[in-house]
Amino acid sequence: MKKKLTRFDFQNMKEAGEKVTWITAYDYSTAMFAEKAGMDMLLVGDSLGMCIYGYDGTIPVTMDQCIVHSEAVRRAAPNTFIVGDMPFLSYQVSVEDAVLNAGRFYKEAGVDAIKLEGGKRVCPQIEAISDGGMLVIGHIGLTPQSSGQLGGFKAQGLTVDSAEALIEDAIAIQEAGAFALLVEAVPPEVCKIIRDTLTIPVYSIGAGVDADGQLMICHDVLGIFQAFTPKFVKRYAEIGDQIESVFKEYVADVRGGAFPEDQHTYRMLKGEEEKLQIRLA
Ligand code: KIV
Repeated sequence: MKKKLTRFDFQNMKEAGEKVTWITAYDYSTAMFAEKAGMDMLLVGDSLGMCIYGYDGTIPVTMDQCIVHSEAVRRAAPNTFIVGDMPFLSYQVSVEDAVLNAGRFYKEAGVDAIKLEGGKRVCPQIEAISDGGMLVIGHIGLTPQSSGQLGGFKAQGLTVDSAEALIEDAIAIQEAGAFALLVEAVPPEVCKIIRDTLTIPVYSIGAGVDADGQLMICHDVLGIFQAFTPKFVKRYAEIGDQIESVFKEYVADVRGGAFPEDQHTYRMLKGEEEKLQIRLA
């Protein structure tokens, strides 16, 4: 049976140079396949707002939505380390909110850690959640919840000032007590500096190979999310196209009478049809 990893395993993997594999999952089936595939970590990301609910971004996502999806993922992947993603306004308003909402992920969905976006400005929240006995992963670089302030879904750390600010944020997040950090859409050279500077694991989504592990959004990797594809995504399949063609075939079969066939139907017991005809005559 697969062994669920702990924060100490992730720390040891960093020190041994072993990469952590991490993908988002929002539902039972995907999480089950991820666990079967031996994924180290799952993120119930607030990207579910786009991938599952069809919102333009992550801003409308609520705590209740995140909890429901985290519960399903937990049921499917009991032996995988699961991270709940704190949605917009679940931690920005106050430290108290942050601790209570992080606690909801633990109490109601049984997650192993939570993730929240932001640098120095969310360090009081990271400290308070960690003091509450929970595990926090920081998230810097392209932070979708504040994409308006960033001028859109844009890569970060492209200039010396921006790179320096990211490095300072990374150090502050580690000092606040986060056990790991996610860096999104940042040049690999900046991610490498952060990875080499911090003692905690540093994971990349679109920040190059010099990280302690990689995260991808499952709907991107599978080719299910088709609205747009960020530069950093590798699409391993076009499952969306496959789903469409299967649905088309099904529609054609039903309309043309090719489905269902005899093998897909139940038959009355021997002699019962004749008895029914007599009764109805
Ligand atoms: O919600 C999510 O999937 C995320 C990734 C974009 C990092 O936070």
